[in-house]
Amino acid sequence: MRKINVFDTTLRDGEQTPGVNLNFEEKIQIATQLERLGVDIIEAGFPAASEGDFQSVKNIADTVKGSSVTGLSRSVQKEIDAAWEALKGGEEPRLHVFIATSPIHMNHKLRMTPDQVIENAVESVKYAKKRFPHVQWSAEDACRSDIDFLTKIIEKVIDAGADVINLPDTVGYITQEEIRHVFSHVRETVPNIDKAVLSTHCHDDLGMAVSNSLAAVEAGAGQVECTINGIGERAGNASLEEIAVALKIRNDFYQAETGLTLNEIKRTSSLVSKLTGMAVPNNKAVVGDNAFAHESGIHQDGVLKETSTYEIITPELVGVHANRMVLGKLSGRHAFKEKVEALGYNATEEEINKVFKAFKDLADKKKEITDEDIFALMTDEKAGE
Ligand code: KIV
Ligand code: ZN
Repeated sequence: MRKINVFDTTLRDGEQTPGVNLNFEEKIQIATQLERLGVDIIEAGFPAASEGDFQSVKNIADTVKGSSVTGLSRSVQKEIDAAWEALKGGEEPRLHVFIATSPIHMNHKLRMTPDQVIENAVESVKYAKKRFPHVQWSAEDACRSDIDFLTKIIEKVIDAGADVINLPDTVGYITQEEIRHVFSHVRETVPNIDKAVLSTHCHDDLGMAVSNSLAAVEAGAGQVECTINGIGERAGNASLEEIAVALKIRNDFYQAETGLTLNEIKRTSSLVSKLTGMAVPNNKAVVGDNAFAHESGIHQDGVLKETSTYEIITPELVGVHANRMVLGKLSGRHAFKEKVEALGYNATEEEINKVFKAFKDLADKKKEITDEDIFALMTDEKAGE
């Protein structure tokens, strides 16, 4: 099984979610939980962005010892210096330095020629390497870059000392087939590629961030960059929990695994949702409220007989207490009886049949039947005896 490093960027790219602004205490709370979850690398922020970001990154680097802590920097010496000041107290100081490599970004944003971009990237990696034992270099907008230019610049930054090469899909544009091609081509054509780990960082503009990240893993990525609940710039980043659980449940296919403590996932998701104010949709894979809920009678009956009929993930795997049978108009007698018994009633078959009919009448008028509704139905039944 190949080990895939998990690089969590909830505190950097995730904090770029419109409307999200975490304070110093909230950031350390999230970083400590990420450490408990077992992420390999925590991107704690962008130290040169503001005094607040600098202090938070420093605090996290000085405090968190179970995960490696990194911070982002543009290819600018004074930003690399700021990152070093913030990160030097960490267990394994690690810099994440980036520059854009796509024609659109080089022409319109950087206003630099491809040769100037190569020179700048090489200089910044060499400069960073004088301080940091680990340097990750990112080709921003890699997935819209010219593949020959990409392979050329990657070879040069590895020669300059980069340990990790990250190829982001910055605007969430690429397809699975294409990203597999980018990663395979880079692995096959860059002569010194074995000296570095390849990393994937996908955005979700077309709703493909998780599947693209997994396709990159198939094609040799050894690191995935993601955020809790998939929060991030615009439509967000690849969601950590979905990638981690997909690798676990389908390790027969991917032949790869993370080192995460998966049963910390639900707790981490809830904490991030609470502190960012970003609600998790009920139908979100793995961490949504409905991820382990069954509504139709046919499904409920199947799950009560054997959970694997309709559950491919056990709730316990991700730290959810138990699955949930939603009692509504589609529910069957089997789930209803289980619920009545779970609420402490020792009802006869005849009583169950009668109350089940009253339950169905009520369910026609109400979307979901609560425990209180069942108590009331059972009380009416007992009163009528
Ligand atoms: O999406 C992106 O390209 C980024 C880089 C800074 C790595 O977040
Ligand atoms: Zn990003």
